[in-house]
Amino acid sequence: MSQSYAMLKCYGSCSMSSVERRPQWMSTRMMLSPQVAQDNEELRLRTTFVALHKPVEGLYAMNGGDGLHSYAQNSSYQRGVVDVAKPIIQEEITTKLDIEQLSSTSQYNFRIADFGCSTGHNSFPAIQIIIQAIEKKIERERELQNFDYQVFFNDQVMNDFNTLFASLPPERKYYAAGVPGPFHGRLLPKDSLHFAYSSCALNWLSEVPKAVQDGTSRAWNEGKVHYTGAKKEVFDAYSNQYDKDITSFLNSRATEVVSGGLMALLVPAVPTFDHSETTYTTPTEMDVLGSCLMDMANKGRLSKAKVDSFNFPLYFIIPNELKAIIERNNNFSIERMEILNNPGKHSLRSANERASYLRAVFEGLLVNHFGSGIMDELFERYANKLEESSHFLDPDNEKSIIIFVLLKRTGDK
Ligand SMILES: C[S@@+](CC[C@H](N)C(=O)[O-])C[C@H]1O[C@@H](n2cnc3c(N)ncnc32)[C@H](O)[C@@H]1O
Repeated sequence: MSQSYAMLKCYGSCSMSSVERRPQWMSTRMMLSPQVAQDNEELRLRTTFVALHKPVEGLYAMNGGDGLHSYAQNSSYQRGVVDVAKPIIQEEITTKLDIEQLSSTSQYNFRIADFGCSTGHNSFPAIQIIIQAIEKKIERERELQNFDYQVFFNDQVMNDFNTLFASLPPERKYYAAGVPGPFHGRLLPKDSLHFAYSSCALNWLSEVPKAVQDGTSRAWNEGKVHYTGAKKEVFDAYSNQYDKDITSFLNSRATEVVSGGLMALLVPAVPTFDHSETTYTTPTEMDVLGSCLMDMANKGRLSKAKVDSFNFPLYFIIPNELKAIIERNNNFSIERMEILNNPGKHSLRSANERASYLRAVFEGLLVNHFGSGIMDELFERYANKLEESSHFLDPDNEKSIIIFVLLKRTGDK
């Protein structure tokens, strides 16, 4: 590394006191001699050098590292999705994966990709489930040779890939590679992928719909940070953006996935767009977080304009809408579609645990817009609000769903 400036990105459990007080993802510009960097093993293991010296709008990821507020320590909710999907993925690989067809075109290299893998600890068990199921199938069809597996771990460029690579299971049966960049566009060569997977990631939009941030638009989302309880125009802008984004995702994967290849998607969703006073979903929780930001603006802790110009780039679809988008796209056949109830919701037993789960996911995004100074107060207010309304504390009132959909790449390519 060159002698001069190092762009240092510090993650959750970085032990140096000068950076300890910074938020997990925050970039800081430090003079770092090669000697100092070498001497500090902890620092070396927990840092990523990035070509950024300040937050850049639109670039964020889950909290990295494995510290208190890290995604790794606060994503038991998302882990539940892998667990509930396991038998279904096993069954679908057994019945729907045409090993003979794929091996004839791939020279016994089998390529898998996880789109939106974060730091990997939920991705690794999912990849293991997929490879074990393929191996079982090969075992049954004895004349077939074993595959060499290659796994592509994809996420946004700001993702903590260092933690992912440092945590790769030592006993893995695959060659691993990181693929940085937005999954709404092309990431891999044409006809290179045999199995695509994505869990808890396709609810993220490529961007906040422009109209909801435009003060002159009918869809301007004044005083709110998401579409729950907002004007119809706001909801429509989100819905249109989602349609565009999922279509781009499907088009990109259609080019990358070989004919006959499979794609297993686990999509965070809601059963209905209607709101209930006694139950809640992830979008409702985001609305509560937004109300905490508004409370802070009303108390002068931040400006109202700052809240007005912030919106979450996420959308939670209903099953029929997702089905319609996939059918319209026409590049994949729907082999199976099912609604799953995520057992992971029972792992969040208190308001503080719910706050930590949202913080691990949204802190990077929020710091990007509001700065790091308000984070502790914001999530404390959020936990307090949840405690005040009893229905948020019973996980059985959480009605978010996961849509499992297995797609097969159709057509001659
Ligand atoms: C809630 S996490 C899920 C991580 C992991 N799949 C799991 O189940 O624990 C969502 C992940 O999707 C990633 N993501 C969101 N939008 C993305 C995009 N456009 N391209 C690539 N990754 C994206 C986020 O950075 C994040 O790591």
